[in-house]
Amino acid sequence: MDSSYTTEKTKIQMLYEACNLVFSQKQLPTFKEIHWLKHLLGTFEAIDFGIDEVDLCGSPSSSKKSDKGLICGQCISQITYIHVYECDHFSIGVFCFPAGGMLPLHDHPRMTVFSKLLYGSCYVKAYDWVKVESSSGFPTFGLGGKVLDGIMSAPCETSVLFPRSGGNIHSFTALAPCAILDVLTPPYSEDLGRPSTYFMEFPIPSLPGYAMLEERDLPDDLVVEGAPYLGPPIEADHGHHC
Ligand SMILES: [Fe+2]
Repeated sequence: MDSSYTTEKTKIQMLYEACNLVFSQKQLPTFKEIHWLKHLLGTFEAIDFGIDEVDLCGSPSSSKKSDKGLICGQCISQITYIHVYECDHFSIGVFCFPAGGMLPLHDHPRMTVFSKLLYGSCYVKAYDWVKVESSSGFPTFGLGGKVLDGIMSAPCETSVLFPRSGGNIHSFTALAPCAILDVLTPPYSEDLGRPSTYFMEFPIPSLPGYAMLEERDLPDDLVVEGAPYLGPPIEADHGHHC
């Protein structure tokens, strides 16, 4: 690849092309490809997605847009999802959290998830199933083993979770305003049997590090607002895979 080819492109365009290349294949991504994408995601900053992580724009904005035409990360008052791109094979988006914002335990069925904390800090808890009972018509229920329980502060490495390992069921609580870049492959799809399910956890006093997890309804108090993506446009290769 000659260098003029890469330098003309925005980072988001390079991310789109990398995802399209790796996730549109018939076979699962290799370890090397996952490592490459992890590294690429590690280079991203909030500004690449049109988010101002520093400024206080002064107004708890209802439009969420600062004078500079950016999303004001310090001023959002609700968990906000910025949808960047989605096709059949993957989705790219950013969750912005106000301090104290909490996304309860939820899963990513048969999905691989790349998460990069762009700024701020949050408390993360994550489980993998040890044994799960799931039959249609009944709430999913089972034993979860905790794989993560700690604070993540930017700058930190991109994390990757897999369909059966790495903390496929996780929750986030923002300790300071923060933003998480999420790349999901394949994306959530109710129609294709990949819904997002929320869980309650019941710790087992005699079994530290484990909890019973039970499917719950979407929490009433969970509000996720949408905000427009204000970063550089993505030129999608429509004639191709997506
Ligand atoms: Fe998630």
